[in-house]
Amino acid sequence: MPTIELSHVSKVYRTIKKDSGLRGAVKALFRPHYVEKVAVHDLSFHVDAGEVVGYIGVNGAGKSTTIKMLTGILHPSGGSIRVLGRDPHRERVANAREIGVVFGQRTQLWWDLALRESLNLIANIYELEPARYRQLLAEFAQTLELEELLSVPIRSMSLGQKMRAELAATFLHQPRVVYLDEPTIGLDVMVKERIRAFIRDQNQRNGTTVMLTTHDLDDIEQLCQRVIIIDAGSVVYDGPLSTIKQRFGTFRSIAFETAHPLEIEHLILPLGTAIASHGERALEVRFDRTVTSASQVATALMPQIEAIDFSLAEPDLESIIKQIYAGTHTAALREEVLV
Ligand SMILES: Nc1ncnc2c1ncn2[C@@H]1O[C@H](COP(=O)(O)OP(=O)(O)OP(=O)(O)O)[C@@H](O)[C@H]1O
Ligand SMILES: [Mg+2]
Repeated sequence: MPTIELSHVSKVYRTIKKDSGLRGAVKALFRPHYVEKVAVHDLSFHVDAGEVVGYIGVNGAGKSTTIKMLTGILHPSGGSIRVLGRDPHRERVANAREIGVVFGQRTQLWWDLALRESLNLIANIYELEPARYRQLLAEFAQTLELEELLSVPIRSMSLGQKMRAELAATFLHQPRVVYLDEPTIGLDVMVKERIRAFIRDQNQRNGTTVMLTTHDLDDIEQLCQRVIIIDAGSVVYDGPLSTIKQRFGTFRSIAFETAHPLEIEHLILPLGTAIASHGERALEVRFDRTVTSASQVATALMPQIEAIDFSLAEPDLESIIKQIYAGTHTAALREEVLV
């Protein structure tokens, strides 16, 4: 049985359209005019126990809506959802005991309480054994660097501190499934790294299933073997991250550092290559690896430029994903999903 299972799920938001001013507000009250917005459409996928899945897509693609349905906050308009065998909306309480969720945009902790008091409360709600609680608290305080924050109320924490506190609170009852909706948004590089290390550790040690929504592709590269890309509320790609790179990352680049100033106009470039950038003693060449190879490019250029150093850059995930978001690869991806 998969841990998370969505089958032909749809979600339509129904909102009342209001004209401006008091007149509009009164009119909407007595004769409401509804507008419908399809946020998720015919969405199907499943996630197995212990997987860390990156759930990505452009703004408005339907990611948060999906997470809200999976947590039971929202009821789907159609289709069916199962999380650990349950309907998350109908069995909200039972579902809540086994899941954890972080919405990066807002905190779920008690604003005025010191972090330690918040965590005590959570431990009580979930009936954690005192010894186990002490052990987890010590562990989390160390891995998330929370020691000095335990006595600080949430309202006086910085964004990065708040997010670390939030993660501790989310994982404290050792949920089997965790949804993270943009957990690294707005954080500095160091805090991002710490948070990723914590998520990885929890997944490896406890086999926690994680669904991660993010716009930071480093999160995906470092945490997820599998990605699901959605567009306009449905899946356009579901598979390994490596496949996307192999299939669509056909461009690589080699950067050379040269002993003498370059004379760009005299360079003879091999087939399938183009100059990506150049400086006085630096040259970056982009090549299509379906046409040529790194060694062919290096062999052709080295005698011409007297290179003293060179390095090969992997395809850049960001540019590949950008193309997918822009729809360039959508048809090819759909084919791949069907194969
Ligand atoms: N409560 C709501 N009422 C009406 N429409 C909504 C509501 N929440 C979301 N939507 C709409 O549904 C669509 C999907 O929104 P959702 O928040 O799921 O996107 P997202 O993929 O999480 O985007 P982002 O990357 O910006 O967080 C959007 O067009 C959005 O405007
Ligand atoms: Mg969102």
